[in-house]
Amino acid sequence: MTSSPFLARSREELRGALSRRRGPVALVPTMGALHAGHAGLLTRARQAVGPEAPLVASIFVNPMQFAAGEDLDRYPRTFDADVELCAEHGVDVVFSPSVEEVYPGGDPQVTVDPGPLARVLEGASRPTHFHGVLTVVAKLFGLVRPDVAVFGQKDYQQLTLIRRMVDDLCMGIDVVGAETVREEDGLALSSRNRYLDEDQRWRAVALPRTLFAAREAARYGASVAIAAARHELRHARGVDLEYLELTAPDLGPAPTTGPARLLIAARVGTTRLIDNVALELNGDS
Ligand code: PAJ
Repeated sequence: MTSSPFLARSREELRGALSRRRGPVALVPTMGALHAGHAGLLTRARQAVGPEAPLVASIFVNPMQFAAGEDLDRYPRTFDADVELCAEHGVDVVFSPSVEEVYPGGDPQVTVDPGPLARVLEGASRPTHFHGVLTVVAKLFGLVRPDVAVFGQKDYQQLTLIRRMVDDLCMGIDVVGAETVREEDGLALSSRNRYLDEDQRWRAVALPRTLFAAREAARYGASVAIAAARHELRHARGVDLEYLELTAPDLGPAPTTGPARLLIAARVGTTRLIDNVALELNGDS
């Protein structure tokens, strides 16, 4: 049985809805256009707090994390279907504020500086992105006051920076990183996949193939893993690589053995896609 979530548009409505409920609060922040990847986060959040505790999903397309020329205006908006997916996944409150509600008085004067980790990988081509992400996530934490917040490993640098913010600013929130949900052929679900035409959709599978090839080869060491990834990419047509980087799980310098992370960004047509996997490096390289 599914019941409709309470729809809160203002901070007063949100506080009112939460004051009527008991138990630890779980939050899943999203920008809407929800798909099975987001559904995975909702399931994970419900697991984390139990059947009775309030589960909040926020739907807010945050202008501050889009630079001029990025896809803010054409970002997909599918509100009714989003609320339905939330209902099916046991969400109690959908918090869907306006831009004015989140940013009364325009741009905030006090914001979250994401530090050096925001200047590499995604930050190299999107230098203001994580400043906007961390500022809005801090605001959502302040508004919802969650005990647990769930984010996807799909956006691994975002997840790492949010963990860092919560630690460095002593926010006392349990940040859970949920597994990436993929299509059958391996492509990570993303709201942006709908920009791909049929041919591009088919080419986009080069991203997970590259990552999986490296994951397989990782038992022979880092350089073999990278060579396997590069080999896979050489055969990929219509995929413009932006970066392929091996790092430590905390995005520090890559280790020679043990757990590591491989991250990729590429353009397929005009659509920019990102993905990543965990690797276990063995051997010397
Ligand atoms: P959005 O792109 O809507 O993603 C919301 C959450 O869903 C993020 O934590 C993201 O990592 C997760 N997600 C997306 N695709 C996924 C997949 N295939 N498998 C698992 N999780 C997936 O990320 C944002 O919004 C925004 O930056 C936000 C954090 C809401 C701040 O505005």
